[in-house]
Amino acid sequence: MRELPVKLGERTYSIFIGTSILGNTGELLRRVSGTYKVLVVSNPKVFSLYGKKLLDSLGERGFESITALMPDGEEFKNMEEAIKILNQAVDAKLERNAVIMALGGGVAGDLAGFVAAIYQRGLDFVQVPTTLLAQVDSSVGGKVAVNHPRGKNMIGAFHQPRMVVIDSSTLSTLAQRDYLSGLGEVIKYGIIYEAEFFSFIENNAEKIIKKDEGCLQELIYRSCRIKSEIVEQDEKEMGVRAILNLGHTFGHAVEKLGEYQEYRHGEAVVMGTMAAAYLALDMGLLEQSELERILELFKRLGISPGFPSYDPAQVYDGMLNDKKIANKKLRLILPRGIGDYLITDTADKDKKEVIKAIERAQKGK
Ligand code: NAD
Ligand code: GLY
Repeated sequence: MRELPVKLGERTYSIFIGTSILGNTGELLRRVSGTYKVLVVSNPKVFSLYGKKLLDSLGERGFESITALMPDGEEFKNMEEAIKILNQAVDAKLERNAVIMALGGGVAGDLAGFVAAIYQRGLDFVQVPTTLLAQVDSSVGGKVAVNHPRGKNMIGAFHQPRMVVIDSSTLSTLAQRDYLSGLGEVIKYGIIYEAEFFSFIENNAEKIIKKDEGCLQELIYRSCRIKSEIVEQDEKEMGVRAILNLGHTFGHAVEKLGEYQEYRHGEAVVMGTMAAAYLALDMGLLEQSELERILELFKRLGISPGFPSYDPAQVYDGMLNDKKIANKKLRLILPRGIGDYLITDTADKDKKEVIKAIERAQKGK
C-alpha cells in the first residue's frame, strides 16, 4: 500500500493506494477519527459488490454504520437525492463527529461529499472510490456537487476528504466502457501538465487496456500525485486548478445535449479535449504532429468516440451555460504543446473559431 499526502495545512490528508485494501478501511479510518458512527453512501450495484467487505472492516474497528443507497446514474446526482440522504442523517441522529463515506464512482462521491459539506455545516468525509475516474480524479481535491437542471455541478462546495482509500482491485468488476471513460481524465494530466506522464501512457497503452495490476497502480499513483500537486497550489480554483477542466466546457455541453444519459462524463471529456486540441492547433499552440500524437493515443486506448454530430452552434450555446464563465467570457483550457497549457478567455468575437474547432473535431480533420 502506498500513501500519498495532499498537503493543505490543517486540511492535509492521505490517499492510500493499493490492491485489496478495502478491508483496511476501518483501521485507516481509526487513525483519523474517534467517531463511532459512519453513514455510507453508495448505490445498489456497488454496494452489492463491496458493501459487506467495507461494513465488516468498519465494524471490526468499532464503527457503527448506516447505509444510504442512491439510484445508479448521473441523473440522480441532484438536490432531491441529497435531501433524501440528509433526511436519513437526521433520522439517524448523526452527530457532528460522525463520518460520511462515499463508496462508488464520481456520482456517489460528489453527492455524498455535498451532503457531508452541508449537514450540520460540515462533517468529516471519506472517499472510497471504485471507478477509474473517481480513483484518478474526483475523489481527490474536495470538489463536491449536485447538478441543477440547467447546469452540471451548479450547486456545490469545496469540502476536502479526511482520507481517500483507493483499492485498485475494485476495478476488476467495472464495465469496460466505464474503465475507458476514466482514461480520458488520466490522459489530461499528461497533455496539460506532464509530458513524461503522457509518454508513460503511450509506452504502456497495451498494459493499461488489459488492466495490468502493476501498471494500474502506477497510473493511479501518478495521476493522484499530479492532481494533488495542482490542488496544493490552488485549492479553490482561483488559477492553475482550472487546467484540470481541459475539455470539460465542450464536454459539459455534450453531456447536457445527451441529457446525461448518452455519454459518460469521461467520454465527453475526451470529445471536448479533441475540440480543444483543434482550437489549439488553429491558434498555433499545438503542432500538427502533437495533435496527431494525442488523437493516436486516444485511438490506441479505444477511447476515440468521435465528437457527436450536434449542431455546433447548439454546443457553443451549451458551453455558455457552464460554470467556467468569467465576465461573460468563456474560459477555455488549451494544450500548449504536450505537457503545458494556456488558459484563455474567449469573447463572443471568437465564437467562429470555437465553432470551427467543434466542426473539425466532428470531422476528425
Ligand atoms: P459513476 O459514478 O456513475 O460510475 C459509473 C458506473 O460504474 C455506475 O453505473 C456505477 O454504479 C458503476 N460502478 C462503480 N464502481 C464499480 C465497480 N467497482 N464495479 C462495477 N461497477 C461499478 O461515474 P464516474 O465516471 O465514476 O463519475 C462521473 C462523475 O464524476 C460525474 O458526475 C462527474 O461530474 C464527476 N466528477 C467529479 C470530479 C470532482 O472533482 N469532484 C472530477 C471528475 C468527475
Ligand atoms: N476535476 C476538476 C477538479 O477537481 O478541479
